[in-house]
Amino acid sequence: MTSAADLRKLGDAIAARLPAAPTVAEVDGLEAEALGPGAPVTEARRSLRDAPETVRRELGQAVNEVTARVTAAAKERRQALAASERDARLADEWLDMTLPGRAPARGRAHLVATVWDEIVDIFVALGYTVATGPEVETSYYNFDALNTPSTHPSRLESDTLYVAHGSDPEGVLLRTHTSPVQARYMEAHPPPVYIVVPGRVYRRDAVDATHTPVFHQLEGLAVDDAITFGDLKGTLEHFARAFFGSRRRVRFLPHFFPFTEPSAELHVDCFACEGSGCRVCKESGWIELLGCGVVDPNVLQAVGYDPEVLSGFAFGMGIDRLAMIRYGIPELRMFFDPDLRILRQFR
Ligand code: PHE
Repeated sequence: MTSAADLRKLGDAIAARLPAAPTVAEVDGLEAEALGPGAPVTEARRSLRDAPETVRRELGQAVNEVTARVTAAAKERRQALAASERDARLADEWLDMTLPGRAPARGRAHLVATVWDEIVDIFVALGYTVATGPEVETSYYNFDALNTPSTHPSRLESDTLYVAHGSDPEGVLLRTHTSPVQARYMEAHPPPVYIVVPGRVYRRDAVDATHTPVFHQLEGLAVDDAITFGDLKGTLEHFARAFFGSRRRVRFLPHFFPFTEPSAELHVDCFACEGSGCRVCKESGWIELLGCGVVDPNVLQAVGYDPEVLSGFAFGMGIDRLAMIRYGIPELRMFFDPDLRILRQFR
């Protein structure tokens, strides 16, 4: 049987080694060398019951002392190891909270989309709603329903991109303007009509500074029981001022479109030079904005509206063109350039 002195010696030895134990597992092992199953302290404690009175007191004290000593030393070492492990992890996971963050790249709307929305909003504020129609269109809606004679040059394959061959009403093409939505909308809805139609249109144009085979238009159509050319003038003057500034003056020049009669071209005095002549207005003092006119009775008739009762006006503008004018963009092609440095200049 181990003596009290031996137990103390063992306790001293283990308590001396514990502070150098490099891992928790080794702390556990050292502790078990004294206090574990079958270890001297454990065996001595078990023997106490049968030990002679003379030994029991002395041995019992040693068992308690050594147990307390080793347990305390092991606990202290475990705490020290946990602390240094935490320190090491903190040092490893160190994060500089003062570093400026990495901002995620933010996209923004393309300028054409921004101007598109802005123009739509101007008309929505007047009570118009937004309508859309297909980009792949029939000759009927693109031309015939819009009073365009079968001999009209815009129908030629040199001007229009045909999907299925033929310029007959069954011909399928990429719409050359947003005007076919006039006819589609009126066919599907009873009057009154107050709509704007933004969308992509296609023309067989060679690419240059102001032409691309696809561009964007916004159509407007108002049909009600007493609409006059005066309503057209008031509405478009409001639009020109909302878009180019409240001081703008407008003028209407006679023009021709198959689907309006009379037809006009809307000009606005130059916002850049106030009309005195500059590069923006090509020294004329005026900028051409859009085409417009009073809806031709034949168009109303084609959709089943009674031209004796109803009248209306229509207009069509190039969204890209208006964006170019307002932002002084010299090249329509810039809008299609994937180089974000170009697009980011326009906020
Ligand atoms: N559709 C015509 C164009 O593309 C514009 C327009 C629309 C003119 C409506 C008058 C009325 O040029």
